Amino acid sequence: MAITSPASPRRSGRRHPLATAALLIVGLLATGGAYALATSTATAETTAHTAEMVEEGGKLFAANCASCHGILADGTAAGPSLIGVGALAVDFQVGTGRMPMAASGPQAEVKPVQFSQEQIDAMGAWVAELAPGPAIPAERYFAGDGDVANGAELFRINCAMCHNVAGAGGALTEGKYAPGLANIDPIHVYGAMVTGPQNMPVFSDMNLTPEEKNDVISYLRYIDENPSVGGFDLGSLGPVSEGLFIWIFGLGGLVAVTVWLTAKSN
Ligand code: HEC
Ligand code: HEC
Repeated sequence: MAITSPASPRRSGRRHPLATAALLIVGLLATGGAYALATSTATAETTAHTAEMVEEGGKLFAANCASCHGILADGTAAGPSLIGVGALAVDFQVGTGRMPMAASGPQAEVKPVQFSQEQIDAMGAWVAELAPGPAIPAERYFAGDGDVANGAELFRINCAMCHNVAGAGGALTEGKYAPGLANIDPIHVYGAMVTGPQNMPVFSDMNLTPEEKNDVISYLRYIDENPSVGGFDLGSLGPVSEGLFIWIFGLGGLVAVTVWLTAKSN
C-alpha cells in the first residue's frame, strides 16, 4: 500500500543556487577538521627544548658537523641539508655512531658513539629549532611492552624483505646493506622507522601508528631475549638455506652411499 502524497511537490527546482556550494564547503571543512584531529592525536608527543640546549647544540654543530652539512645546516656537496629532519634524525644518526661521518662510502658506517646523550640532545634541539621535524617520542612509544605477535606480523610485511625475518640483516644493491637488528636501542629502532635513513623507507604514522611501531620494537626485543633455541640456524634464511643444506648434504650423502655400494659389489 504505497502512499504518495500529492501535497509534497518536487523540491529540487526550488533550491537556492548557492546551496550545493555551501553544502560542499561544509562537507569539506568537516572531513578536513576530522582528519586533522585524527592525525594529530595519532602522533607521538614531543619533548621540550630549552634555550641553553639550543645554544650548546649550535656550538657543537659548528665544530663537528658544519664542515659537511654547512654552517646553517642547509647542505654542501659533502652532506645533505638537515633543515626539517628533526631531533629524531640527529638522535638516530649520532646516537648509532653513523655521524659525524668519517669516510665517504656507499653508506655511513656504524662507529663508536662520539658524544654524550646530553650533547646529542643539544644538537637535536638546535636542528629542530631550524624547522619543525620528527621529535623524540614519549617513552611509552618505544617501551617494547606491546603486542609481540602483531609486531612480528608487521615486521614480516614491512621490514623482512631487507632486514631478514629474524632481523639478521641482508645485502642491498650498490654496496649498500640493511644491517642486522640484534640489540639495537629501542629509540634508534623508532628513529630508523620515522626518519628512514639512506635506502630505508620512511614509515610515517599513517603507515605504522606509534602503537604499531611499539609492537615492532617489542618483537625485536623478543628476538633479543629469546635467541635461537639450538641447532644450526643457517643464517636464519629460512627454507632456502635449509633446502640447500638438505640438497647438498642429504642428496650428496645418498649419492656417496650408492657409489660406495656399487663399488663394493664389483
Ligand atoms: C664527513 C661529512 C659529514 C660530517 C662531518 C657529518 N655528516 Fe651528517 N651526513 C653526511 C652525509 C654524506 C649524509 C647522508 C648519507 C647517509 O645518510 O649515509 C649525512 C646524513 C646525516 C643525517 C640524516 C639526514 C636525513 O635526511 O635523515 C643527519 C641527521 C646528520 N647527517 C647529522 C649530522 C650531525 C649532527 C653531524 C655532527 C655531529 C654530522 N651529521 C656530521 C655527512 C657528514
Ligand atoms: C628497503 C629496505 C629496508 C626496509 C624495507 C627497512 N629497512 Fe631498516 N634499514 C635499511 C637500510 C639500508 C639501513 C641502513 C641505513 C644507514 O646505515 O644509513 C637500515 C637501518 C635500520 C636500523 C638501524 C640499525 C642500526 O644498526 O643502527 C633499524 C633499527 C631498522 N633499519 C629497522 C627497520 C624496521 C623496524 C623496518 C620495518 C618497519 C625496516 N627497517 C625496513 C633498509 C630497510
